[in-house]
Amino acid sequence: MTQTTPEAPVRRQRAQVKVRTLRTDRWWLAPLLTFLGLSSFLVYGVWAIIDNSYFVEPYIAPFASPCLSTSCEEGARLFGWAPIGDWYTLPPGLLILGLPGGFRLTCYYYRKSYYRSFWLSPPACAVQEPHGKYTGERRFPLILQNIHRYFFYAAIVIGLILAYDAVLAVVHKPLGLGSWVLIVNAVLINTYTLSCHSCRHITAGRLNHFSRHPLRYRAWTFVSKLNAKHQQLAWASMFSVMIADFYVRMVAKGILAFPFA
Ligand code: FES
Repeated sequence: MTQTTPEAPVRRQRAQVKVRTLRTDRWWLAPLLTFLGLSSFLVYGVWAIIDNSYFVEPYIAPFASPCLSTSCEEGARLFGWAPIGDWYTLPPGLLILGLPGGFRLTCYYYRKSYYRSFWLSPPACAVQEPHGKYTGERRFPLILQNIHRYFFYAAIVIGLILAYDAVLAVVHKPLGLGSWVLIVNAVLINTYTLSCHSCRHITAGRLNHFSRHPLRYRAWTFVSKLNAKHQQLAWASMFSVMIADFYVRMVAKGILAFPFA
């Protein structure tokens, strides 16, 4: 009887490609557009935070909402209330910026987009990255991305406040274009928030039997449909919040007037 010898394991090696990529399509276009889009959001955000024209009855600019201190104009205060009193005198947006900002910064979709467009890590599929080694999100500081779920809880509250601001604007000024700009923005911000991967996990993650949890199953089905559009909602809500914020500031500065206000 002949004995068969086990085959030696095949050692797989990376292909020795001398150039950065073999791709011949315009792979650089998507990271470039992403870089420009995210940069415009950052530049606008810095300007909006320091600009003081954030309120004109009944509109409040989304970047400045909720307004929580007595330094906010009276009509701008959330529920006419100033829970943090008068110790805070800096722009209102600076106080709450960390919550929506942290939510977007740690978002799974935005992570992918800025890892590609800002850190080029890698800039696109099958394109070599400039960094020598890759440690992923296992170490400080990127391990902090895991707090995304907690930012999600805060984003739910901020989304509801923006919806409240928009409803208030429509009630007080139903013919004002600004009211409808705020409504569209509130819808996009809230659908983006609900489409979050953490929300999908919270609604029905770890369930073994959907049949025993029909309500959670329905919620999960709804969130999953939104989740499939998460990337689109991320961009749409990012632009809508900039447009709505800019719009209110232009009205507050007197640059736009009725019927456009
Ligand atoms: Fe994008 Fe949560 S994954 S907001």
